[in-house]
Amino acid sequence: MNDAGTHTRRVFSGVQPSGNLHLGNYLGAVKRFVEMQEEDFDTLYCMVDLHAITVWQDPEELTNATRELAAAFMACGLDPKKSILFNQSQVPTHAELGWIFNCVGRVGWLNRMTQFKDKAGKNAEKMSVGLYSYPTLMAADILVYHATHVPVGEDQKQHLELTRDIAMKFNNDFKCPGFFPETEPIIEGAATRVMSLRDGSKKMSKSDPSDLSRINLIDSAEDIAKKIRKAKTDPEPLPESADGLAERPEAKNLVGIYSALSGQSVDAVLGEWGGKQFGEFKPALADLSVEMVAPIAVEMNRLLADPAEIDRILGDGANRAAEIAEPILAETYKHVGLLRSR
Ligand code: AMP
Ligand code: TRP
Repeated sequence: MNDAGTHTRRVFSGVQPSGNLHLGNYLGAVKRFVEMQEEDFDTLYCMVDLHAITVWQDPEELTNATRELAAAFMACGLDPKKSILFNQSQVPTHAELGWIFNCVGRVGWLNRMTQFKDKAGKNAEKMSVGLYSYPTLMAADILVYHATHVPVGEDQKQHLELTRDIAMKFNNDFKCPGFFPETEPIIEGAATRVMSLRDGSKKMSKSDPSDLSRINLIDSAEDIAKKIRKAKTDPEPLPESADGLAERPEAKNLVGIYSALSGQSVDAVLGEWGGKQFGEFKPALADLSVEMVAPIAVEMNRLLADPAEIDRILGDGANRAAEIAEPILAETYKHVGLLRSR
């Protein structure tokens, strides 16, 4: 807490280093991270490798994916001088507070988490304990910095509600009102839910078996243009206003992507394109996507040519993150009554 008795305006968000970032991650999360770095906030952005290992990860690939995600963050505009960039496992306070939150959170709360149900499907018994308790570690990621704002895509809303429940229960149980803040989710922007290019009812996801379903940030200009060209559409021309997109998930998705990439509202896009066919709209969307996305891959590859420099940046970020987190963890231990004598 600062001198005024309120929490410092602090942003925390995390992305798993498990495969390449796609356009959904960029428009739903990372683009907002970059904007918030320029606003009146402390900003911490984390590669959540401890969350990634809740499902099997090949060790060598995990290390590479962590460096790739760091490079993607920077290529999208995150600046290690303005934001703290680091990987979760280098700051052990996350896991330590995560354990305490395993003892604060309730089994009934976790049983309601839809992400676990989606990921586990019929195989819940065979999933790792870590996948089940994933949200308590996520609460710890956020609260170990007393973060007040968390920019994420819509799919993380339920986890952030749980984070607030844990904070409130902790503050109540240990009679320390206001110790953990009630974190505010920031779910905004034109594209908080980018859908698959092959099926407008499924979200764009790195786990979709079809690579044509997503635009990866590392895709070449040719691949980006090809994927837009092959994107599923319907035979109708584009509607004149947003209401006309209601029952047309594929059209809605492509217009949403155009809107987010161009910075125009959906209505403004339809003002220009309403009544026109996809045969005309798609090439314009392909050009815009190539213009906005292709330079990211070029910059990522440049950064990845010097892995030692990426490791240095992440080490430095971890030191700065630990400086904020350690005193908060020490105070937490005091509230709980855990003895520390060194
Ligand atoms: P993940 O890839 O699941 O670790 O997600 C990283 C961030 O990207 C989170 O804030 C997600 O909410 C966001 N995100 C993932 N997929 C999408 C999508 N299809 N549309 C919008 N945001 C997304
Ligand atoms: N659960 C998030 C996702 O799947 C990643 C994440 C882990 C996260 N810890 C976080 C996001 C803390 C925001 C804040 O996308």
